[in-house]
Amino acid sequence: MTLRLVLLWALDPAERDALLANEATKRWTSSNQVLMEIACTRSANQLLHARQAYHARYKKSLEEDVAHHTTGDFRKLLLPLVSSYRYEGEEVNMTLAKTEAKLLHEKISDKAYSDDDVIRVLATRSKAQINATLNHYKNEYGNDINKDLKADPKDEFLALLRSTVKCLVYPEKYFEKVLRLAINRRGTDEGALTRVVCTRAEVDLKIIADEYQRRNSVPLTRAIVKDTHGDYEKLLLVLAGHVEN
Ligand SMILES: *[C@@H]1O[C@H](CO)[C@@H](O)[C@H](O)[C@H]1NC(C)=O
Ligand SMILES: *[C@@H]1O[C@H](CO)[C@@H](O)[C@H](O)[C@H]1NC(C)=O
Repeated sequence: MTLRLVLLWALDPAERDALLANEATKRWTSSNQVLMEIACTRSANQLLHARQAYHARYKKSLEEDVAHHTTGDFRKLLLPLVSSYRYEGEEVNMTLAKTEAKLLHEKISDKAYSDDDVIRVLATRSKAQINATLNHYKNEYGNDINKDLKADPKDEFLALLRSTVKCLVYPEKYFEKVLRLAINRRGTDEGALTRVVCTRAEVDLKIIADEYQRRNSVPLTRAIVKDTHGDYEKLLLVLAGHVEN
């Protein structure tokens, strides 16, 4: 894992995302959330650059690989997510937020989770607009949308939808959970730990670490020291270095 960490870290972010996305398509299973994670936590330009790097590296598009390796509702959601180029302005249309909150609530009440409209809202609206829509959803209908999307806790498509919402609106909570599950698992999930530390070190690892500490009452760096060793541990700590208080 040390070698992989060094290899991933040495790549520029677009190349790294292309590589991670390529692995995720090849090893795709319905519980693999890496494609969604890349699509929803990068900026529009970062995602575009990752798609360009993908062309150069693999001589085909990310979209065609996602279409080839995924199936059913997962493909229906993942394809527009990886193809998206979201508007990034902060302004919000409240009329639209109310209309789409109502729409989402109707579809979710009917258990039409993979409905075209649900996917269109999540895959095309700006993050600020989605946040406004989901705030309105909660105020108007009482529950956080992710609570309503927990109707069947074992359903992996619902799990992917909940993670999509988190990645779009509060990515630090999504990444905190990935780290927590990776670290708490019997035999640390070093793949997930490596991915999150490498891809977030220069972005928001400090915020993720604060969330980790808040949620687990243990600093992230201490949890890493407890769970890893040798060069791998040292390198993770260097990358997580600027998160130590
Ligand atoms: C807000 O969204 C509504 C519904 O889609 C649309 O009719 C209206 O023109 C939008 N307002 C602005 C200021 O863009
Ligand atoms: C979402 O909306 C809430 C309430 O208006 C706001 O406090 C928060 O900063 C927003 N988050 C994002 C990611 O826009």
